[in-house]
Amino acid sequence: MGQEITVIGVGQMGTGIAQAALQVGYSVVLIDKNIDFLNKGFARLTTNLDKALEKGKITAQEKEAMLKRVKLSQTMDAIKDSSIIMEAVPELIDLKLEIFKNADKFCSKDSILATNTSSILINRLATAVSDPSRFIGLHFFNPANVMKLVEVVVGEKTSKKTVDESLAFITSMNKIPVKVNDAPGFISNRILMVFINESITALEKGIAEKEAIDSIAKLGFNHPMGPIELADFIGLDVCKDIMDFIYLETKEEKFKPSPLLVKLVKEGKLGRKAGEGFYKYN
Ligand code: CAA
Repeated sequence: MGQEITVIGVGQMGTGIAQAALQVGYSVVLIDKNIDFLNKGFARLTTNLDKALEKGKITAQEKEAMLKRVKLSQTMDAIKDSSIIMEAVPELIDLKLEIFKNADKFCSKDSILATNTSSILINRLATAVSDPSRFIGLHFFNPANVMKLVEVVVGEKTSKKTVDESLAFITSMNKIPVKVNDAPGFISNRILMVFINESITALEKGIAEKEAIDSIAKLGFNHPMGPIELADFIGLDVCKDIMDFIYLETKEEKFKPSPLLVKLVKEGKLGRKAGEGFYKYN
């Protein structure tokens, strides 16, 4: 495995993945077409490293060395030396297909093309690349620099070599890979989105207040966050996009986003990142 990886998309997930890679010694090419997003992503990464420095988890020299290993680019030609091309853009299938089509033209023929999609079928996204044997799902969890799990989603055409190299890459990031087969929402979001959706439905029906629902999950199941605050943390738009995709593919009612979730998304109350979702944030 080479020492450079590319991360395409510098939102919450992209910067978290980049930070996790930098912290174990990789160089990272960060790509975003939009210069403002790129600069914001780099600023978020710098802030996260500052926090790690404040807590004494890294030294000032380590922080500087990590930032020096970051290359920012608005164009795909910067990815040619990376051993893993990690896509982490919003959950829009056409956008992801376009990005992989473009990345396929510039990447090395030995590199792995990986998507951080949280629900879209790997087999569908793999149609964008010339060699689907090198295509795989590497699904990180938010905050990606902290959470141990990476759900490794193996497509029908993913080769054993790609799976083995991906497992080694995830392990080298001090994370724990768990392999699953391709299906809408994989395992993580088939479980999580039903849990979140049902919690929102219970709130909507007036069975309990949001604080009570969250307390039940925290105190009764030892979850670090309750389902309502977790939905805010993930982003209500992201939760809705995931449910929409799984529902569209499976037609199972349990995945249909609850009317209250749809309403909040329409109102722009997207959760923590927007300052308001189910809860308010300052
Ligand atoms: N971004 C980056 N790092 C963050 C963060 C954020 N928003 N929030 C917390 N952290 C980091 C802190 O810096 C700290 O890092 P260090 O250990 O290196 O110091 C660590 O997380 C713990 O933070 P705190 O001690 O401040 O707070 P905590 O103990 O309350 O933990 C938490 C915060 C890790 C977010 C915890 O509440 C938690 O685990 N929540 C559940 C998260 C979860 O379920 N994530 C999965 C969501 S589903 C998903 O991502 C997949 C999908 O497809 C939708």
